[in-house]
Amino acid sequence: MNKRKRIGILTSGGDCPGLNAVIRAVVNHATSEYNWEVRGIPYATQGLIERKSVVLNSYGLERHGTDPLLSMGGTILGSINKGDTEGNTDDVIQGYYDLGLDALIAIGGDGSLAILQKLAEKGNWNLVGVPKTIDNDVAHTELSVGFNSAVTTILDCLDRLSYTAASHDRVMVVEVMGRTTGHLALNSGIVGGADAILIPEIPYSIKTLCKQIRELRNLYGRKFAIVVVAEGAKTADGESRYYKDALGEVRLRGIGEYIATEIENNIGVEARVTVLGHVQRGGAPSALDRLIGTAFGKVAVDLIAEEKYGVMVAWKNNTVATVPLARVFADSPRLLNPNGFWVETARSLGIYVGEEVDCSEDGSGISNLNGLKPSELEVMNQIN
Ligand code: F6P
Repeated sequence: MNKRKRIGILTSGGDCPGLNAVIRAVVNHATSEYNWEVRGIPYATQGLIERKSVVLNSYGLERHGTDPLLSMGGTILGSINKGDTEGNTDDVIQGYYDLGLDALIAIGGDGSLAILQKLAEKGNWNLVGVPKTIDNDVAHTELSVGFNSAVTTILDCLDRLSYTAASHDRVMVVEVMGRTTGHLALNSGIVGGADAILIPEIPYSIKTLCKQIRELRNLYGRKFAIVVVAEGAKTADGESRYYKDALGEVRLRGIGEYIATEIENNIGVEARVTVLGHVQRGGAPSALDRLIGTAFGKVAVDLIAEEKYGVMVAWKNNTVATVPLARVFADSPRLLNPNGFWVETARSLGIYVGEEVDCSEDGSGISNLNGLKPSELEVMNQIN
Protein backbone atom coordinates (compact mmCIF):
# COMPACT_ATOMS: atom_id res chain seq x y z
CA MET A 1 0.00 0.00 0.00
CA ASN A 2 1.20 3.49 -0.83
CA LYS A 3 2.43 5.59 2.06
CA ARG A 4 0.09 8.47 2.94
CA LYS A 5 1.53 11.67 1.42
CA ARG A 6 2.65 14.48 3.68
CA ILE A 7 2.80 17.94 2.10
CA GLY A 8 4.09 21.16 3.60
CA ILE A 9 2.79 24.68 3.12
CA LEU A 10 4.47 27.97 3.98
CA THR A 11 3.99 31.69 3.43
CA SER A 12 7.03 33.82 2.64
CA GLY A 13 7.61 37.55 2.06
CA GLY A 14 5.30 40.40 3.03
CA ASP A 15 1.84 39.29 4.12
CA CYS A 16 -1.38 40.27 2.36
CA PRO A 17 -5.08 39.47 2.52
CA GLY A 18 -6.00 36.11 0.99
CA LEU A 19 -3.10 33.97 2.22
CA ASN A 20 -5.34 32.11 4.67
CA ALA A 21 -7.86 31.45 1.91
CA VAL A 22 -5.10 29.65 -0.02
CA ILE A 23 -4.07 27.67 3.08
CA ARG A 24 -7.71 26.69 3.70
CA ALA A 25 -8.21 25.49 0.13
CA VAL A 26 -4.99 23.47 0.19
CA VAL A 27 -5.91 21.79 3.48
CA ASN A 28 -9.52 21.07 2.56
CA HIS A 29 -8.69 19.74 -0.90
CA ALA A 30 -5.62 17.73 0.13
CA THR A 31 -7.38 16.11 3.07
CA SER A 32 -10.83 15.49 1.62
CA GLU A 33 -9.87 14.56 -1.95
CA TYR A 34 -6.53 12.80 -1.41
CA ASN A 35 -6.42 12.00 2.30
CA TRP A 36 -2.96 13.56 2.60
CA GLU A 37 -1.49 15.07 5.72
CA VAL A 38 -0.83 18.82 5.51
CA ARG A 39 1.89 20.41 7.63
CA GLY A 40 2.08 24.18 8.05
CA ILE A 41 5.69 25.43 8.28
CA PRO A 42 5.83 28.51 10.52
CA TYR A 43 7.82 31.53 9.33
CA ALA A 44 8.87 29.99 6.01
CA THR A 45 12.56 29.00 5.83
CA GLN A 46 12.92 29.77 9.53
CA GLY A 47 10.50 26.93 10.27
CA LEU A 48 12.51 24.59 8.04
CA ILE A 49 15.72 25.52 9.84
CA GLU A 50 14.07 24.92 13.22
CA ARG A 51 12.35 21.72 11.93
CA LYS A 52 8.99 23.09 13.05
CA SER A 53 5.61 22.20 11.60
CA VAL A 54 1.99 22.05 12.67
CA VAL A 55 -0.56 19.53 11.47
CA LEU A 56 -3.37 21.31 9.63
CA ASN A 57 -6.65 19.58 9.01
CA SER A 58 -10.00 20.83 7.88
CA TYR A 59 -11.70 19.87 11.14
CA GLY A 60 -9.21 21.86 13.19
CA LEU A 61 -9.44 24.74 10.77
CA GLU A 62 -13.10 25.33 10.39
CA ARG A 63 -15.54 23.13 12.25
CA HIS A 64 -16.30 25.77 14.85
CA GLY A 65 -19.51 26.93 13.30
CA THR A 66 -17.92 29.52 11.05
CA ASP A 67 -14.95 29.52 8.76
CA PRO A 68 -12.69 32.33 9.93
CA LEU A 69 -9.87 31.52 7.52
CA LEU A 70 -11.77 32.81 4.52
CA SER A 71 -12.15 36.27 5.96
CA MET A 72 -8.99 36.49 8.05
CA GLY A 73 -6.20 38.82 6.91
CA GLY A 74 -2.49 38.05 7.40
CA THR A 75 -1.23 34.48 7.57
CA ILE A 76 -1.84 31.95 10.33
CA LEU A 77 1.61 30.51 9.55
CA GLY A 78 3.55 33.73 10.02
CA SER A 79 6.02 34.98 7.44
CA ILE A 80 9.46 36.48 7.06
CA ASN A 81 10.56 38.84 4.36
CA LYS A 82 14.24 38.17 4.68
CA GLY A 83 14.30 34.71 3.24
CA ASP A 84 17.94 34.85 2.23
CA THR A 85 19.38 31.48 3.20
CA GLU A 86 22.91 32.14 1.98
CA GLY A 87 25.28 30.39 4.36
CA ASN A 88 22.85 27.78 5.68
CA THR A 89 21.37 26.46 2.46
CA ASP A 90 22.13 22.83 3.24
CA ASP A 91 20.47 23.09 6.63
CA VAL A 92 17.30 24.57 5.09
CA ILE A 93 17.26 21.89 2.43
CA GLN A 94 17.64 19.15 5.01
CA GLY A 95 14.70 20.65 6.97
CA TYR A 96 12.35 19.54 4.19
CA TYR A 97 13.57 15.95 4.54
CA ASP A 98 13.70 15.95 8.33
CA LEU A 99 10.05 17.04 8.37
CA GLY A 100 9.28 14.08 6.11
CA LEU A 101 7.73 16.19 3.34
CA ASP A 102 6.82 14.68 -0.02
CA ALA A 103 6.09 18.09 -1.55
CA LEU A 104 5.94 21.75 -0.56
CA ILE A 105 3.53 24.55 -1.51
CA ALA A 106 5.13 27.97 -1.13
CA ILE A 107 3.00 31.10 -1.22
CA GLY A 108 5.27 34.03 -1.98
CA GLY A 109 6.23 36.99 -4.12
CA ASP A 110 8.81 36.76 -6.89
CA GLY A 111 11.73 37.29 -4.49
CA SER A 112 10.81 34.59 -2.00
CA LEU A 113 9.74 32.14 -4.67
CA ALA A 114 13.10 32.64 -6.41
CA ILE A 115 14.96 31.78 -3.22
CA LEU A 116 12.78 28.71 -2.62
CA GLN A 117 13.10 27.55 -6.21
CA LYS A 118 16.91 27.65 -5.93
CA LEU A 119 16.68 25.58 -2.75
CA ALA A 120 14.28 23.17 -4.47
CA GLU A 121 16.64 22.72 -7.40
CA LYS A 122 19.67 22.17 -5.22
CA GLY A 123 17.88 19.94 -2.73
CA ASN A 124 15.61 18.11 -5.15
CA TRP A 125 12.43 19.29 -3.43
CA ASN A 126 9.01 18.89 -5.02
CA LEU A 127 7.94 22.53 -5.06
CA VAL A 128 4.78 24.28 -6.28
CA GLY A 129 4.54 28.09 -6.03
CA VAL A 130 1.50 30.31 -5.45
CA PRO A 131 1.92 34.05 -6.28
CA LYS A 132 1.00 36.65 -3.70
CA THR A 133 1.83 40.33 -3.45
CA ILE A 134 -0.19 43.50 -3.19
CA ASP A 135 2.20 45.00 -5.77
CA ASN A 136 0.94 42.53 -8.43
CA ASP A 137 4.37 42.46 -10.03
CA VAL A 138 4.94 38.70 -10.29
CA ALA A 139 5.50 37.87 -13.96
CA HIS A 140 3.21 35.60 -15.98
CA THR A 141 0.16 35.99 -13.76
CA GLU A 142 -2.46 38.65 -14.32
CA LEU A 143 -3.29 38.63 -10.62
CA SER A 144 -1.45 37.72 -7.46
CA VAL A 145 -3.26 37.05 -4.20
CA GLY A 146 -3.61 40.27 -2.18
CA PHE A 147 -3.61 42.81 -5.00
CA ASN A 148 -7.36 43.19 -5.36
CA SER A 149 -7.86 43.56 -1.60
CA ALA A 150 -5.21 46.28 -1.44
CA VAL A 151 -6.83 48.15 -4.34
CA THR A 152 -10.15 47.92 -2.47
CA THR A 153 -8.57 49.32 0.70
CA ILE A 154 -6.92 52.19 -1.16
CA LEU A 155 -10.21 52.92 -2.89
CA ASP A 156 -11.96 53.19 0.48
CA CYS A 157 -9.26 55.61 1.66
CA LEU A 158 -9.51 57.71 -1.53
CA ASP A 159 -13.29 57.96 -1.09
CA ARG A 160 -12.78 59.25 2.44
CA LEU A 161 -9.98 61.63 1.49
CA SER A 162 -11.96 63.13 -1.39
CA TYR A 163 -14.63 64.49 0.98
CA THR A 164 -12.22 66.11 3.35
CA ALA A 165 -10.18 67.44 0.40
CA ALA A 166 -13.32 68.99 -1.09
CA SER A 167 -14.36 70.54 2.22
CA HIS A 168 -11.06 72.40 2.54
CA ASP A 169 -10.19 73.00 -1.12
CA ARG A 170 -6.99 71.05 -0.68
CA VAL A 171 -4.78 68.85 -2.75
CA MET A 172 -4.53 65.40 -1.19
CA VAL A 173 -1.39 63.50 -2.06
CA VAL A 174 -1.79 59.81 -1.29
CA GLU A 175 1.35 57.67 -1.21
CA VAL A 176 0.61 54.01 -1.88
CA MET A 177 2.83 50.94 -1.99
CA GLY A 178 4.50 49.72 -5.17
CA ARG A 179 8.26 49.47 -4.97
CA THR A 180 9.02 48.97 -8.62
CA THR A 181 5.63 49.04 -10.27
CA GLY A 182 2.55 51.24 -10.43
CA HIS A 183 -0.20 48.60 -10.63
CA LEU A 184 -1.63 49.55 -7.23
CA ALA A 185 -1.47 53.30 -7.86
CA LEU A 186 -2.92 53.10 -11.36
CA ASN A 187 -5.78 50.72 -10.58
CA SER A 188 -6.84 52.44 -7.37
CA GLY A 189 -6.34 55.89 -8.85
CA ILE A 190 -8.63 55.15 -11.79
CA VAL A 191 -11.45 53.77 -9.63
CA GLY A 192 -10.87 56.30 -6.85
CA GLY A 193 -11.23 59.41 -9.01
CA ALA A 194 -7.59 60.56 -8.93
CA ASP A 195 -6.61 63.61 -10.95
CA ALA A 196 -2.99 62.52 -11.24
CA ILE A 197 -1.27 59.16 -10.83
CA LEU A 198 2.51 59.01 -10.60
CA ILE A 199 4.18 55.64 -11.04
CA PRO A 200 7.74 54.30 -11.28
CA GLU A 201 7.39 53.27 -14.92
CA ILE A 202 6.56 56.72 -16.34
CA PRO A 203 8.54 59.94 -15.83
CA TYR A 204 6.49 63.01 -14.96
CA SER A 205 7.10 66.73 -14.80
CA ILE A 206 6.18 68.91 -11.84
CA LYS A 207 5.26 71.62 -14.35
CA THR A 208 2.63 69.47 -16.08
CA LEU A 209 1.35 68.10 -12.78
CA CYS A 210 0.84 71.64 -11.46
CA LYS A 211 -0.74 72.72 -14.75
CA GLN A 212 -3.27 69.92 -14.33
CA ILE A 213 -4.16 71.05 -10.80
CA ARG A 214 -4.31 74.72 -11.84
CA GLU A 215 -6.62 73.91 -14.72
CA LEU A 216 -8.97 71.97 -12.47
CA ARG A 217 -9.28 75.06 -10.29
CA ASN A 218 -9.28 77.78 -12.91
CA LEU A 219 -11.11 76.18 -15.83
CA TYR A 220 -13.46 73.80 -14.04
CA GLY A 221 -13.81 75.48 -10.66
CA ARG A 222 -12.81 72.34 -8.81
CA LYS A 223 -10.75 73.51 -5.89
CA PHE A 224 -9.58 70.14 -4.60
CA ALA A 225 -7.49 67.47 -6.26
CA ILE A 226 -6.37 63.93 -5.55
CA VAL A 227 -2.87 62.84 -6.49
CA VAL A 228 -1.96 59.16 -6.06
CA VAL A 229 1.75 58.43 -6.05
CA ALA A 230 3.47 55.04 -5.86
CA GLU A 231 6.20 54.83 -3.21
CA GLY A 232 8.68 53.78 -5.90
CA ALA A 233 8.05 56.80 -8.16
CA LYS A 234 11.10 59.02 -8.46
CA THR A 235 11.49 62.74 -7.94
CA ALA A 236 11.61 64.90 -11.07
CA ASP A 237 15.43 64.64 -10.82
CA GLY A 238 15.22 60.87 -10.96
CA GLU A 239 15.92 60.17 -7.31
CA SER A 240 14.10 57.62 -5.17
CA ARG A 241 12.87 58.74 -1.77
CA TYR A 242 13.80 56.27 0.91
CA TYR A 243 15.41 56.03 4.30
CA LYS A 244 17.39 53.49 6.23
CA ASP A 245 15.67 52.32 9.37
CA ALA A 246 17.42 51.77 12.69
CA LEU A 247 18.20 48.20 11.64
CA GLY A 248 19.89 49.40 8.47
CA GLU A 249 17.10 48.29 6.13
CA VAL A 250 16.15 50.38 3.10
CA ARG A 251 12.52 51.57 3.24
CA LEU A 252 10.85 53.53 0.48
CA ARG A 253 9.03 56.58 1.78
CA GLY A 254 8.87 60.32 1.16
CA ILE A 255 7.85 60.75 -2.47
CA GLY A 256 4.39 61.94 -1.34
CA GLU A 257 5.96 64.63 0.84
CA TYR A 258 8.14 65.73 -2.05
CA ILE A 259 5.18 66.02 -4.43
CA ALA A 260 3.07 67.94 -1.90
CA THR A 261 5.89 70.42 -1.25
CA GLU A 262 6.39 70.98 -4.98
CA ILE A 263 2.65 71.62 -5.42
CA GLU A 264 2.56 74.11 -2.54
CA ASN A 265 5.68 75.90 -3.76
CA ASN A 266 4.52 76.09 -7.37
CA ILE A 267 0.79 76.79 -7.01
CA GLY A 268 0.47 78.16 -3.51
CA VAL A 269 -2.43 75.88 -2.53
CA GLU A 270 -2.57 73.71 0.55
CA ALA A 271 -1.46 70.14 0.01
CA ARG A 272 -1.67 67.34 2.58
CA VAL A 273 0.03 63.96 2.46
CA THR A 274 -1.34 60.59 3.52
CA VAL A 275 1.03 57.63 3.47
CA LEU A 276 -1.19 54.57 3.51
CA GLY A 277 1.62 52.16 4.37
CA HIS A 278 0.75 48.79 5.84
CA VAL A 279 -2.96 49.59 6.07
CA GLN A 280 -2.89 48.36 2.47
CA ARG A 281 -1.68 44.94 3.57
CA GLY A 282 -4.26 44.45 6.31
CA GLY A 283 -7.93 43.65 6.54
CA ALA A 284 -10.19 40.96 5.18
CA PRO A 285 -9.52 39.66 1.67
CA SER A 286 -11.85 40.83 -1.10
CA ALA A 287 -14.20 38.38 -2.81
CA LEU A 288 -11.81 38.17 -5.79
CA ASP A 289 -8.80 37.38 -3.61
CA ARG A 290 -10.76 34.66 -1.81
CA LEU A 291 -11.79 33.29 -5.17
CA ILE A 292 -8.36 33.22 -6.81
CA GLY A 293 -6.75 32.13 -3.53
CA THR A 294 -9.15 29.19 -3.37
CA ALA A 295 -8.58 28.29 -7.04
CA PHE A 296 -4.78 28.54 -6.62
CA GLY A 297 -4.85 26.31 -3.52
CA LYS A 298 -6.99 23.67 -5.23
CA VAL A 299 -4.84 23.55 -8.37
CA ALA A 300 -1.56 23.56 -6.40
CA VAL A 301 -2.72 20.36 -4.66
CA ASP A 302 -3.76 18.78 -7.97
CA LEU A 303 -0.33 19.58 -9.43
CA ILE A 304 1.27 17.62 -6.60
CA ALA A 305 -1.09 14.73 -7.30
CA GLU A 306 0.08 14.85 -10.93
CA GLU A 307 3.71 15.16 -9.77
CA LYS A 308 4.19 18.41 -11.70
CA TYR A 309 6.82 20.35 -9.79
CA GLY A 310 8.95 23.46 -10.27
CA VAL A 311 5.90 25.39 -11.42
CA MET A 312 3.80 28.31 -10.19
CA VAL A 313 0.04 28.56 -10.50
CA ALA A 314 -0.98 31.72 -12.36
CA TRP A 315 -4.19 33.61 -13.13
CA LYS A 316 -4.76 33.89 -16.88
CA ASN A 317 -7.95 34.47 -18.85
CA ASN A 318 -10.15 33.93 -15.81
CA THR A 319 -8.74 30.54 -14.92
CA VAL A 320 -5.65 28.94 -13.39
CA ALA A 321 -2.65 28.23 -15.60
CA THR A 322 0.80 26.93 -14.68
CA VAL A 323 4.17 28.52 -15.45
CA PRO A 324 7.67 27.15 -14.85
CA LEU A 325 9.07 28.95 -11.80
CA ALA A 326 12.31 29.65 -13.67
CA ARG A 327 10.40 31.73 -16.23
CA VAL A 328 8.67 33.69 -13.50
CA PHE A 329 11.98 34.85 -12.00
CA ALA A 330 13.55 35.58 -15.34
CA ASP A 331 10.71 37.95 -16.22
CA SER A 332 9.83 39.54 -12.86
CA PRO A 333 9.02 42.20 -11.84
CA ARG A 334 6.08 42.60 -14.19
CA LEU A 335 6.13 46.32 -14.98
CA LEU A 336 3.23 48.36 -16.29
CA ASN A 337 3.30 49.06 -19.98
CA PRO A 338 3.45 52.89 -20.24
CA ASN A 339 1.57 52.65 -23.52
CA GLY A 340 -0.83 49.97 -22.35
CA PHE A 341 -4.60 49.89 -22.03
CA TRP A 342 -4.98 51.17 -18.45
CA VAL A 343 -2.55 54.06 -18.86
CA GLU A 344 -4.34 55.03 -22.05
CA THR A 345 -7.72 54.69 -20.31
CA ALA A 346 -6.60 56.89 -17.41
CA ARG A 347 -5.34 59.55 -19.84
CA SER A 348 -8.56 59.39 -21.82
CA LEU A 349 -10.39 60.37 -18.61
CA GLY A 350 -8.19 63.42 -18.17
CA ILE A 351 -5.97 61.91 -15.48
CA TYR A 352 -2.31 62.98 -15.59
CA VAL A 353 -0.20 59.79 -15.61
CA GLY A 354 3.17 61.34 -16.46
CA GLU A 355 4.68 62.41 -19.72
CA GLU A 356 3.72 60.73 -22.97
CA VAL A 357 7.15 59.55 -23.95
CA ASP A 358 8.59 56.27 -25.02
CA CYS A 359 10.46 55.41 -21.84
CA SER A 360 11.96 52.17 -23.05
CA GLU A 361 15.67 51.99 -23.71
CA ASP A 362 15.11 50.09 -26.93
CA GLY A 363 12.15 52.06 -28.27
CA SER A 364 9.77 49.15 -27.73
CA GLY A 365 7.46 51.19 -25.53
CA ILE A 366 7.94 48.74 -22.68
CA SER A 367 9.49 50.59 -19.79
CA ASN A 368 12.45 49.28 -17.99
CA LEU A 369 12.52 52.20 -15.63
CA ASN A 370 11.78 50.88 -12.22
CA GLY A 371 12.00 53.84 -9.91
CA LEU A 372 15.15 52.63 -8.22
CA LYS A 373 18.81 52.83 -9.06
CA PRO A 374 20.20 49.37 -9.88
CA SER A 375 21.97 49.12 -6.53
CA GLU A 376 18.78 50.04 -4.66
CA LEU A 377 16.72 47.68 -6.75
CA GLU A 378 19.05 44.86 -5.82
CA VAL A 379 18.53 45.61 -2.14
CA MET A 380 14.77 45.90 -2.45
CA ASN A 381 14.48 42.75 -4.55
CA GLN A 382 16.02 40.68 -1.82
CA ILE A 383 12.82 41.07 0.13
CA ASN A 384 9.35 39.87 -0.77
O1 F6P B 1 6.02 43.83 -1.76
C1 F6P B 1 4.94 44.36 -1.12
C2 F6P B 1 5.27 45.55 -0.30
O2 F6P B 1 4.05 45.82 0.25
C3 F6P B 1 5.92 46.75 -1.00
O3 F6P B 1 5.08 47.51 -1.78
C4 F6P B 1 6.49 47.52 0.16
O4 F6P B 1 7.52 48.38 -0.21
C5 F6P B 1 6.98 46.42 1.02
O5 F6P B 1 6.15 45.30 0.78
C6 F6P B 1 7.03 46.75 2.48
O6 F6P B 1 7.50 45.63 3.16
P1 F6P B 1 7.79 45.55 4.72
O7 F6P B 1 6.74 44.66 5.29
O8 F6P B 1 9.12 44.94 4.81
O9 F6P B 1 7.72 46.91 5.31
